[in-house]
Amino acid sequence: MQNDIQEVLISEEEIQERIKQLGAELSAKYEGRTPLVICVLKGAFIFMADLVKVITVPVEMDFMAVSSYGAETKSSGVVKIIKDLDVPVSGRDVLIVEDIIDSGLTLSYLIELLQARGTASIEVVTLFDKPAGRTVKLEADYTGFVIPDEFIVGYGLDYAEKYRNLPYIGVLKPEIYSK
Ligand code: PRP
Ligand code: MN
Ligand code: MG
Repeated sequence: MQNDIQEVLISEEEIQERIKQLGAELSAKYEGRTPLVICVLKGAFIFMADLVKVITVPVEMDFMAVSSYGAETKSSGVVKIIKDLDVPVSGRDVLIVEDIIDSGLTLSYLIELLQARGTASIEVVTLFDKPAGRTVKLEADYTGFVIPDEFIVGYGLDYAEKYRNLPYIGVLKPEIYSK
């Protein structure tokens, strides 16, 4: 366990097990279709990579980079598009892949944006959901784990761009972000 981590909340094995289940559910859901799977960078990149490997229907992928947190532990409320999609989404069945829903601001912004571009359908899969953080009404269609109101890192989730590479979900020692 890394030195800045107080506790492992969800182990690597638990994460991988849950992703296999999500992959099976999504494969059934999209049977006979080819969804456009959109990864919300940067946080979702590891989940995206593991998830698409266990989806058995053909998929296309694209990547969008948005940021609302900067180096803070609280959302700024302003969602910034760092990189837009490369492909048109008009008429597509879109599956948005997120690492975590906290306030819900990032996703509500994204969903509205993609709907305005004429998507046929939008589903959301998030690996983690922190309902205590919600400021806008928003639910994912598929959720990996509901997590408590703690600042977590790892498996794509960062604090000030660090810890994304941890294969598990950990709780950061408070002194790391309070100094
Ligand atoms: C984080 C996380 C989600 C979003 C969730 O991204 O990856 O995308 O915040 O928070 P919300 O529900 O309150 O909007 P962040 O803005 O930190 O960018 P990153 O993915 O590049 O780390
Ligand atoms: Mn993110
Ligand atoms: Mg972040």
